[in-house]
Amino acid sequence: MCLRHLLLCLLVGVIVIVNESEASWDEWWTYDGISGPAFWGLINPQWSLCSKGRRQSPINIEPDKLLFDRHLRPVLVDKHKVSGHLYNTGQFLVFRADREAKVRVNITGGPLAYHYQFEEIYIHYGMDNDHGSEHRINNYAFPAEIQVYGYNAELYHNMSEAQHKSQGLVAISLMVQLGETLNPELQIITSVFNKVIYRGDAAPVRHLSLKSLLPDTNGYMTYEGSTTHPGCWETAVWLILNKPIYVTARELYALRKLMQGPPTTPKAPLGNNSRPLQDLHYRTIRTNIDFRKRPDAKCPSMAQDMHYRANTWQDDGSLSHNVV
Ligand SMILES: *[C@@H]1O[C@H](CO)[C@@H](O)[C@H](O)[C@H]1NC(C)=O
Ligand SMILES: *[C@@H]1O[C@H](CO)[C@@H](O)[C@H](O)[C@H]1NC(C)=O
Ligand SMILES: *[C@@H]1O[C@H](CO)[C@@H](O)[C@H](O)[C@H]1NC(C)=O
Repeated sequence: MCLRHLLLCLLVGVIVIVNESEASWDEWWTYDGISGPAFWGLINPQWSLCSKGRRQSPINIEPDKLLFDRHLRPVLVDKHKVSGHLYNTGQFLVFRADREAKVRVNITGGPLAYHYQFEEIYIHYGMDNDHGSEHRINNYAFPAEIQVYGYNAELYHNMSEAQHKSQGLVAISLMVQLGETLNPELQIITSVFNKVIYRGDAAPVRHLSLKSLLPDTNGYMTYEGSTTHPGCWETAVWLILNKPIYVTARELYALRKLMQGPPTTPKAPLGNNSRPLQDLHYRTIRTNIDFRKRPDAKCPSMAQDMHYRANTWQDDGSLSHNVV
């Protein structure tokens, strides 16, 4: 029979299983097979953007399509330390800041019109060094990507409300490269990898400084996209920092020991948990990096020697451009 019928049968079978065990959808999706990325939009109607959306993430950043925008400000991140827990969800590792914590870490500036409150860090990584990051730069994948999510605290009460609402999220992407020395702040997280080997495991992480975790750079690329996990809500302003942070082979080895299942049925390793690249669909990727300062620059720029001037209202009211 045709593939479509086979698929339907599989999905029906799957839905029955899920209902019987009363598992929540959140626990159930995966990165491969019939619950993998190609099916996220089909298995739950609330996740339809995963298959229909046209402003999806991750994307491949093509350097020759970047647009320099001189009005982009530096990103500001509060230096306060936060405590929380690192969880193995069976899909990835996620650090969640404690809800009760009094200190809030604000993320502001950059392209952001609102104050965002830091909430979660997701870790995506590959089972080998040639794969892992979700975003790619010029088709290059890093061994891992750390995504820092915050929610719009001016408009919404919490992450779960903000994630599917307009301008709800900011996501800062840190590319992780293999190096000789480990980022010291990252060590606070990597030191508990051995306590979150199985799905459902959680380990406390204390006094993490988000600001110190970020690489030492003001340069970034930004575009409007989605969460890279279901429901793929198109509510995220993405910031991809232009320098990686470093881990050693030892941490990557520890990461690759983590499993998707509980101790009784560990199933496959947790790694290789990256959503495939999504189409850009004519979105603009802006950067605050002025490539013109480099002699070999080929990057197009908004800062051309040309500007628009509004006509006086006595004229026909249209805009005319003037080369200066
Ligand atoms: C974070 O932003 C909020 C406004 O959304 C402000 O009230 C608060 O003081 C800021 N926190 C810090 C630590 O700057
Ligand atoms: C988030 O905020 C909404 C709206 O105030 C509320 O209904 C919901 O229970 C909150 N969710 C969590 C997880 O706190
Ligand atoms: C991880 O993904 C890469 C690229 O798709 C693949 O070559 C590799 O075999 C995968 N490894 C495992 C252990 O699944």
